[in-house]
Amino acid sequence: MKTLIAYFSAEGTTAKLAQALAGITKADLFEIKPEQPYTAADIKWTNPLARCNREKIGKKDVPIQGKVDNWDQYDLIYLGFPIWYYGAPILSRPSVRDTTGAGRAFPSLLRQAAATSGRRRKS
Ligand SMILES: Cc1cc2nc3c(=O)[nH]c(=O)nc-3n(C[C@H](O)[C@H](O)[C@H](O)COP(=O)(O)O)c2cc1C
Repeated sequence: MKTLIAYFSAEGTTAKLAQALAGITKADLFEIKPEQPYTAADIKWTNPLARCNREKIGKKDVPIQGKVDNWDQYDLIYLGFPIWYYGAPILSRPSVRDTTGAGRAFPSLLRQAAATSGRRRKS
């Protein structure tokens, strides 16, 4: 079974988890990176004018760098990201939309179990 772990990590914690899981499962890794990297000021959510808050309010896609070459080669895809505003960061959406192949399990590798960890999507 061919497995992919696609992840976004602004501060490095999700990255460590994704890398550890890839080591165990021998999965391929794809880091979801914003075209414009987040600075510490960008993710300071206590500042109402911070980029993260403007993106949250604007609800537009956040452009990302690159893409997975061929999602269809994967039988199982983990999507890892930190919880932002009780959910998935906006920039994870384009990757989710790209993975529209049929019949694959798509567990979310969420970092904070209390929110939505364990949800599965079958497409
Ligand atoms: C913009 C922003 C929003 C966040 N919203 C939440 C939240 O709603 N609930 C929560 O428990 N943590 C929230 N956090 C904390 C992150 O989920 C936490 O710091 C996570 O470990 C960061 O993962 P990373 O190191 O992979 O980026 C938020 C952090 C940021 C920067």
